[in-house]
Amino acid sequence: MSADPNQDRLLDHEYDGIKEYDNPMPRWWLATFWITIAFSILYVLNVPGIGNGKGRIADYEAEMAKAAALAARNDPMNGLTNETIVAASTDPAQRALGSSTFATICSSCHLADGGGLIGPNLTDAYWLHGDKPLEIMKTITEGVAAKGMPPWGKTLKPQQLVAVAGYVLTLKGTTPKAPKAPQGINLDSVATAAPPPATR
Ligand code: HEC
Repeated sequence: MSADPNQDRLLDHEYDGIKEYDNPMPRWWLATFWITIAFSILYVLNVPGIGNGKGRIADYEAEMAKAAALAARNDPMNGLTNETIVAASTDPAQRALGSSTFATICSSCHLADGGGLIGPNLTDAYWLHGDKPLEIMKTITEGVAAKGMPPWGKTLKPQQLVAVAGYVLTLKGTTPKAPKAPQGINLDSVATAAPPPATR
């Protein structure tokens, strides 16, 4: 036994005649072990509730806020007021843009004079989706998929949407050649007969 070259590595203790070598873990293994301990301390310092980290909930909320901000920036309705659309209906340049947009895109369903064909008459007092500038803008932007009014929010530029919504305002009260029968409610009579519902 004394000739054993591993003799020095033998540990002192002995159990039931069994002795063991001192086999240290490799340095690289020990190094990673210490690194994980150091990391765990940093990690605990960064845990929400204990440390200064914001945590996954806050990360999620920050991401959602970023996405909402982006969506708002891409939404042509964002920051828009009734006044902006009314202004577009009288501004010559915007009116020209609205009129040409209406003639090329909308006239196929609403007719060039707005009298209505597949889509409703836009010159009368009857409205399915509201006659407020923002309501008209919303109908144009989002469309009414189930009823065949396409959403134009992605196809047209925001400036073009505002212009064409403004142009729709100018159609009201005009006399088209072949007006389509009224659809929806007469909002003029609603406005005079009773105060408008709070949602409008
Ligand atoms: C493919 C046919 C089609 C085209 C093109 C079309 N519309 Fe329409 N539009 C409709 C139909 C159908 C409706 C009625 C939806 C319903 O019944 O709810 C409608 C409804 C509307 C309304 C709401 C009317 C109301 O009574 O509330 C407005 C405003 C409108 N369209 C504007 C436009 C404008 C502006 C354009 C062009 C950018 C356009 N539409 C292009 C078919 C069309």
